[in-house]
Amino acid sequence: MSVYYLVFGTTPELSRLEWQSVYPQVGLKDLSPRLSQIDWSETEAASADQLVNQLGGLVKVLKAETTLTVKTQAELYLQVADYLATHQPKPEFSLMEYGASKVGQLSPQQLKNELKDRGLSARFVHQTGPEGLSAAVLLHQKRVIELNLIHTPETLTLAKTIAVQDIDDWTIRDRSKPYADHKKGMLPPKVARMMVNIGLGENRTARLYDPFCGSGTILLEGVLLGAQVMGSDLDQVAVMGTEANLAWLPEIYPQTATGVATAELKTADATHVTWPDLTHQIDTIVTEPFLGKPKPQPVALKNMFRGLEKLYLGVLKHWISLLKPGARVVMVWPLVQSGRHEFSLLNLIDKLSVWGYTLQVNPPVKYARPAAVVQRQIVVLTWQPPQSSGESQKSTHKILK
Ligand SMILES: C[S@@+](CC[C@H](N)C(=O)[O-])C[C@H]1O[C@@H](n2cnc3c(N)ncnc32)[C@H](O)[C@@H]1O
Repeated sequence: MSVYYLVFGTTPELSRLEWQSVYPQVGLKDLSPRLSQIDWSETEAASADQLVNQLGGLVKVLKAETTLTVKTQAELYLQVADYLATHQPKPEFSLMEYGASKVGQLSPQQLKNELKDRGLSARFVHQTGPEGLSAAVLLHQKRVIELNLIHTPETLTLAKTIAVQDIDDWTIRDRSKPYADHKKGMLPPKVARMMVNIGLGENRTARLYDPFCGSGTILLEGVLLGAQVMGSDLDQVAVMGTEANLAWLPEIYPQTATGVATAELKTADATHVTWPDLTHQIDTIVTEPFLGKPKPQPVALKNMFRGLEKLYLGVLKHWISLLKPGARVVMVWPLVQSGRHEFSLLNLIDKLSVWGYTLQVNPPVKYARPAAVVQRQIVVLTWQPPQSSGESQKSTHKILK
């Protein structure tokens, strides 16, 4: 076992939930909102590259190289320069710092001077994005290393970046799919990936269903992760669009998108949809239903949420016939802040508990694009058949972390 650090994306609560769902056996020690420490063994079967490819919310993996003991900034310059000098004859490096430094942040120029004094000509590589060096730089410029100083109140660790999420790859799925419907709103693929991972948990080949599939963002991520996917939507155009997007996937990912061949799609109302032969056969429903108007007038909110309440209760009641006992439902629920009043559907939880649903993360994690009026809550439920019909189960609000 060695010490590694995980750098999470801009929705770190959701990223952590994703991690805990897929790797429940690897505990997270949280050092800051976006940084956690793990004890882990990198193997061929589970490499750092695989982690960043698999998880939507994981931006980078760092590996602890050495613990530094310094009292002054000058000592820190010496020790970091020592590290670079012993690891690279002609250092090419970038530098990130996490946490509050007791001796002040290092200047790359001064570090270069320190190396020059030792007769080494070093190159400092500037950050290529807000997260530091991109995957492209680290992949194609093998000589460049990204050093990270991890400051905690107890220790100072020098860590090396060993894997970075490939932003370009996410952008392709976000922007280059043949079918998109911006008016209805589409999930960013990274959020869809996190939701799918939370739905699948450790069962990577589970049967996954999105009954409000829209352009198929969730189904595409499901296929890439190896799930058996099914989707439906009330709108036939959306279903045809999803079909086109699924057909496009193997062109970009011929190795991993093989599950497209067995994907099932249909046009149907999520409150009445039937899948013959699939009674209690679905392992997970992952979905972003209709969320109401994107920019509702404050006076219309009460009615809008009343309508949504009916839709959400309707679908969750209907899905009981499809879900396997123990199944997970990962859904986006709408949330609107209007003045001091918050409109949400969380009041449904007690009703849902009577049908066998249990809220797994309370309060649900919030995800919102900047300036969005309708925010998204990621609601995670599990379903078990209620003990006896009519008997009301008390809702137990568990928190996964
Ligand atoms: C917010 S969009 C889903 C977008 C999708 N997550 C994506 O990334 O493309 C909601 C979808 O629900 C569909 N819809 C609305 N009411 C429905 C119903 N009663 N049954 C099934 N689909 C419905 C709409 O046609 C729309 O495609």
